[in-house]
Amino acid sequence: MKALVLSGGKGTRLRPLTFTIAKQLIPVANRPILGYVLDQVARITRDVGIIIAPETGEYVKEYVMSGEEWGINVTYIPQEPLGLAHAVKTAKEFLGDDSFIMYLGDNLLGDSIEKYAKKFKEENLDALILLKEVEDPRAFGVVVLDEKGNVVKLIEKPKEPPSNLALVGVYFFNKNIHKAIERIKPSWRGELEITDAIQELINMGYKVKAEILESWWLDTGKKDDILTANAIILDEFIRRDVKGEIEDSILEGRVKIEEGAKIVNSKVRGPCIIGKNCIIENSFIGPYTSIGNGSIIRNSSIEYCVIMENSLVEDVNRLEESLIGRNAKVVMKHSKNTLKLNIGDYSIIEI
Ligand code: G1P
Repeated sequence: MKALVLSGGKGTRLRPLTFTIAKQLIPVANRPILGYVLDQVARITRDVGIIIAPETGEYVKEYVMSGEEWGINVTYIPQEPLGLAHAVKTAKEFLGDDSFIMYLGDNLLGDSIEKYAKKFKEENLDALILLKEVEDPRAFGVVVLDEKGNVVKLIEKPKEPPSNLALVGVYFFNKNIHKAIERIKPSWRGELEITDAIQELINMGYKVKAEILESWWLDTGKKDDILTANAIILDEFIRRDVKGEIEDSILEGRVKIEEGAKIVNSKVRGPCIIGKNCIIENSFIGPYTSIGNGSIIRNSSIEYCVIMENSLVEDVNRLEESLIGRNAKVVMKHSKNTLKLNIGDYSIIEI
C-alpha cells in the first residue's frame, strides 16, 4: 500500500498566514500539522507521495525533506488546486496499480489509522471511507447510509444536508478509483471532487464501505479549528518537562519549557508549551497556549492562543483565542487612545 498526502491548496480561509506558509505547516503544540499526518501514514507504509502547490510547495519540502524524521520515502508531486480527485489523477504515475491511503494534510484524528487499513485489506474493499457526526455538515462531504450501514449516497457540501455524517479527509482506495475519476465532471466550484468519484464507484457496482470514527477529528481549515486542535494536542500529549531557565516564577501543571527559554517573574499554567529561546517576563501564560521558538512575551496575560515563531507580545492586558503568525508584534501603548497598525491583507483585529 502507498500513501498520498495532500499538502497543496490555497488555504484561503487561513489568510493572511497562508500567504507565506502552507496551511498544513501551521503548528499546533509547536509542531506543524503535517508532522502528525506523516506520523499516521508512516504506521502503514513507507512509500509516500506528497501533493504540493506551486505557491507553498517549497515550504513543505523544506520541512519534510526526504522524510527521514518519519522513516518514509517521499515523492513530491506538484498540482494546481483543481480538486482532490484531480490530485489523485495527477499522482497516477506514482500510484501505479497499487492500493493507497489518501490523507488530507490538514486533517487530525485522535485514532490511529492502522485498524482501518486492516479492514480495507481484509475485506478486499474497493474503497473505505471514514465518517464523523458533525453539528454543521454543510462545510463537508456528506454521506447517507442505509440501515445496514451501506453507503448509499455522497454529496459534497450540500446546502441541505441529508445526514450529519461528514466525510473525514482519510480515504482508502484500490486502483478502481482511477476508472471512476475518468468518468466524473468538475463540480459547480470547478473542481474534480473525490466525493463524486466515490459516488461513481458505487454506481459502477464496486465495494465501498464506511466506518464511523470513534475519536475526535478536526479539519484545521480555519482559525478556531487550529486553536481547538492545539488545545486537544496539548491536552493529550504534553507532559511536564522543564528544560529552560526559571527565575522567580511559578509553573503549574503540565508545562513543557524548551531549552534556552527564560521564564522570569511569571506564572505559567499548563497544559502549554513554550518553545526554544523564548523570553517570558512579568507575564501570565494560561492553559492551552503554544508559544513558538524565539518569541518574547512581556508584561502580558495570554490564554488559549497559538503564537508562532519569533513574535513579540508586550503590555497586553489579556490576549485570548488568538492565532499569531511568525515575526509579528502585538504591543499595547497605554499612553494613547490611538491604535497604530501595520496589518497584512486579510488580517482580523478584534479590539
Ligand atoms: C474536503 C472534502 C470534503 C471532506 C473534507 C474533510 O473538503 O472535499 O468532502 O469532508 O475535505 O476535511 P475541503 O477541505 O477541500 O473543503
